[in-house]
Amino acid sequence: MKEKLEKAKKIIKENNQEHLLQKYDELNETNKEELLDEILDLDFKQISELYSNTNKEFKYDNNKIKPINYVDKSKLDKATKEMYDKIGLEKIKNGKLAVLTMAGGQGTRLGHNGPKGTYDLGLSSHKSIFEILCDTLKDAQKRYGIYVNWYIMTSKENNKATVDFFETNNYFGYPKDKIIFFKQGRLPMVGEDGKILLDENGMIKLAADGHGGVFESMDRENIIKDMLEKSIEWVFIGGVDNVLVKMVDPTIIGLAETKNVLAAGKSVVKANPQEKVGVFCRRDNKPSVIEYSEISKEMSEATDENGELIYGESHILCNLFNIKAIQEISKKKLPYHAAHKKTNYLDRNNNIVKAESPNAFKFEAFLFDAFESLDDMAIMRVKREEEFAPVKNAEGVDSPETARKLYKAFFKL
Ligand code: UD1
Repeated sequence: MKEKLEKAKKIIKENNQEHLLQKYDELNETNKEELLDEILDLDFKQISELYSNTNKEFKYDNNKIKPINYVDKSKLDKATKEMYDKIGLEKIKNGKLAVLTMAGGQGTRLGHNGPKGTYDLGLSSHKSIFEILCDTLKDAQKRYGIYVNWYIMTSKENNKATVDFFETNNYFGYPKDKIIFFKQGRLPMVGEDGKILLDENGMIKLAADGHGGVFESMDRENIIKDMLEKSIEWVFIGGVDNVLVKMVDPTIIGLAETKNVLAAGKSVVKANPQEKVGVFCRRDNKPSVIEYSEISKEMSEATDENGELIYGESHILCNLFNIKAIQEISKKKLPYHAAHKKTNYLDRNNNIVKAESPNAFKFEAFLFDAFESLDDMAIMRVKREEEFAPVKNAEGVDSPETARKLYKAFFKL
């Protein structure tokens, strides 16, 4: 431990982050060790780069943007649809599909105290979002005779609460050995002066590294290895916050196999040009997504000869990846986007600073930045009322109320 302490002191001095040990003497032995390990593990060069990038606005090259081709599921002719389904079904029945739910987000906008998946949607059954997702897998088991492996990505903050919730609810009757939890990565938060922040206890203030961290975490946590051992070929990766998500879908697997691509994404028609969703596109001829925050007014409003939005294929965070693509992407570094956030931290005099306005930077990778490392991907347009009912905000659009309505309409409750 003494050796570790000396090493840590040296590293923080070299990197102008000497305050990181300012509360060290007051910590208990476990936390002392954890703090030292974290310091020794930190990539200070990366953090300093991320910080210097915060004053440059993250800009994609929007000059080379073009619309992307898509297939409309509801307009497929009967023979093609049957062919896709047959290929997909074969894969599902032979255990070649796994599903992964990204549930590491904080759910700040929803204001629910606990992991988002534990939220009671307010149905008369009082099902939580996790149970609603699990229902779709139980339904798939009835149809296809197989319990699909379900991987759930949590964060350090919500992992215990998530696992406990599944335990208490007896895994909703799903086989326990088919559900695997793993934690996503974290990065330190940085103050406006470039100093890494300490939390109220004097430990490094770490925050989840965004859903784009899923690939790296799958590698680090041996999830890819586990999938390979189980001979899994396709992985559906989705967010936790869509209560109409269709995770086990033979058509999209058949489409990806037939088009010979390593990834496929589902889209829904953008409800209106202002809707807060990213849209699929081609950027420099590679598949990509333009986020709602970066699309220009002209582009978001442009229509084709049929009056349809040219950039209207909303990315709903429902994507299918081949395990080969996951392996490859997991070895790459996706860009990090800096978000200016409100956070409490410990100042140099060990006083807690309560944030009133954004005062720090959080760094997040976005899953769709991985699309650009693929030569091509298939996009399948699905019906919003059948597959997209997001729970994001406490009230108004994309709230429990709107999601509940869509859910009830779909299941005719
Ligand atoms: C996201 C997409 C947007 C898409 C929309 C569809 C981004 C930047 N944008 O927007 O293109 O149209 O969803 O609903 O993502 N998560 C983690 N770990 C993290 C952060 C998030 O697991 O560190 C999970 C959340 O639990 C959630 C999902 O990722 O399930 C979506 O995250 P969120 O931050 O809510 O994305 P949006 O801004 O709503």
